Amino acid sequence: MKLVGLVGWRGMVGSVLMQRMQEEGDFAHIEPVFFSTSNTGGAAPSMAKNETTLKDANNIDELKRCDIIISCQGGDYTTAVFPKLRAAGWNGYWIDAASTLRMEKDAVIVLDPINLNVIKDAMAKGVKNFVGGNCTVSCMLMGLGGLFKQDLVEWMTSMTYQAASGGGAQHMRELLTQFGTINASVKSLLDNPASAILEIDRQVLATQHGLSADETKQFGVPLGGNLIPWIDKDLGNGQSKEEWKGGAETNKILGRGLDFGTAAIPVDGLCVRIGAMRCHSQALTIKLKKDVPLDEINDIIANDNQWVKFVPNTREASMRDLTPAAVTGSLTIPVGRVRKLAMGNDYLSAFTVGDQLLWGAAEPLRRMLRIVLD
Ligand code: HSE
Repeated sequence: MKLVGLVGWRGMVGSVLMQRMQEEGDFAHIEPVFFSTSNTGGAAPSMAKNETTLKDANNIDELKRCDIIISCQGGDYTTAVFPKLRAAGWNGYWIDAASTLRMEKDAVIVLDPINLNVIKDAMAKGVKNFVGGNCTVSCMLMGLGGLFKQDLVEWMTSMTYQAASGGGAQHMRELLTQFGTINASVKSLLDNPASAILEIDRQVLATQHGLSADETKQFGVPLGGNLIPWIDKDLGNGQSKEEWKGGAETNKILGRGLDFGTAAIPVDGLCVRIGAMRCHSQALTIKLKKDVPLDEINDIIANDNQWVKFVPNTREASMRDLTPAAVTGSLTIPVGRVRKLAMGNDYLSAFTVGDQLLWGAAEPLRRMLRIVLD
């Protein structure tokens, strides 16, 4: 059995990965080796077989024993350890959740329901580095992959509504803390049906502005009852790094070049953080290469993969099925609000939602493991 090193399995993405691997019986096919950055020698979790103690995640010799390593430890760990491991002659499969290696020439971004051909071609050529994509991009492609596979997309804009979990576990806690502080500040007014709504509103605003440094440590500004129209670094050209990833990673996943206007499909838009917990949503405007009838488009979207759920463009279905609260904890990727826009018959709208910890992070990694093992 292949020795599979697991690093960062205790964090938020790692925990979701462990849960999914247990649900899918992945541990039956591997000999897991659990690594730790803080508790070397401690007891490995119950999924362990022969390797019952935690190994040092910074020990290159221990890592070198593994045939495959899956890391959810984060970008700093990858930056520190991965080059040393390769320099030490390790030739195993490195499967990583962090973005560090994503755009490297010798790395493939994994999302096998969309790019199994790209993955298989790369494996045949000896590529050993496989990296999970940006959560927003992966969730979008799981929903709209059919249109890309049929080469119907001339360009696309994506306006995102990204959940707190994209920042990390502390960000989710901070959002809830802010909601709690805000609610507490108006509780007595809310309890009194005769109180004035504008007084409640004034108090909410005062509380948001008065949140302590501790209560805004992760996001920098209030997110509860607010939104933040910038995610990740400022690239200095008016674009955020998250927005750049939309174009760069979509095209890399699809195995296209990165020059817009030639092989690459322009994908760009604005990325916005909202007060959802762990589902990223996005409103898409798609310029089609030709006028395709709406029922055909619906079929292409719906039939691309088993996880897409086509949501009829009605008020009732959209409200019921096309929300973070409806999708959280599930692998289903609903796509709805699909209609031709007023700009012309080759302009399409769509709205999609995805659990950013599942398809956006953990699921492509465990599926890549199974591809390597096959
Ligand atoms: N950059 C994403 C976010 C995280 O902040 O929502 C998932 O790649």
